[in-house]
Amino acid sequence: MYKHILVPTDGSALSDKAVAAAIQLAKLAGARLTAFHAVEPYPLQGAYAAEASGVAELQPEIFAERSEEYAKRVLDAVASAAAAANVQCATHSASSRSASQAIIEMARKENCDLIVMASHGRRGLEGFLLGSETQKVLTHSSIPVLVYR
Ligand SMILES: Nc1ncnc2c1ncn2[C@@H]1O[C@H](COP(=O)(O)OP(=O)(O)OP(=O)(O)O)[C@@H](O)[C@H]1O
Ligand SMILES: [Mg+2]
Repeated sequence: MYKHILVPTDGSALSDKAVAAAIQLAKLAGARLTAFHAVEPYPLQGAYAAEASGVAELQPEIFAERSEEYAKRVLDAVASAAAAANVQCATHSASSRSASQAIIEMARKENCDLIVMASHGRRGLEGFLLGSETQKVLTHSSIPVLVYR
């Protein structure tokens, strides 16, 4: 039924669980996967925030380098887990101030027919029913979304 599953990940423990579930589902359905990580661009108010908190500001180049390294590490882990399960998996990252918008755009661009993502992510404020990115994807997606808890 589902042939191409998009699995967005922020690298959090809960995302990892959703990734594992997406791999199993893809295996059962004979689907392929696209793993996606949205890289946050350099914070607009980075300099002010750093000054206010007294924490040294991360240079934009170093920030970009670390974000790219993080994206690669997170996506490589999905690719290896998928390969171990014999599931075809492509990986993509894109820079965006809105992870949810980037997720929806990626699903459209890659013609995915299902998005599998976790209810929460790195911030994981359990008091909220859903993380803000998951909530926005559910609101704006035109394809089915499976929310993993
Ligand atoms: N940068 C990102 N790239 C790809 N997927 C993401 C990204 N951020 C979040 N997600 C996806 O959304 C899921 C839920 O994360 P979300 O950001 O909504 O919750 P949160 O981090 O707990 O809370 P907050 O709303 O404060 O960010 C993650 O498990 C992941 O699947
Ligand atoms: Mg988040």
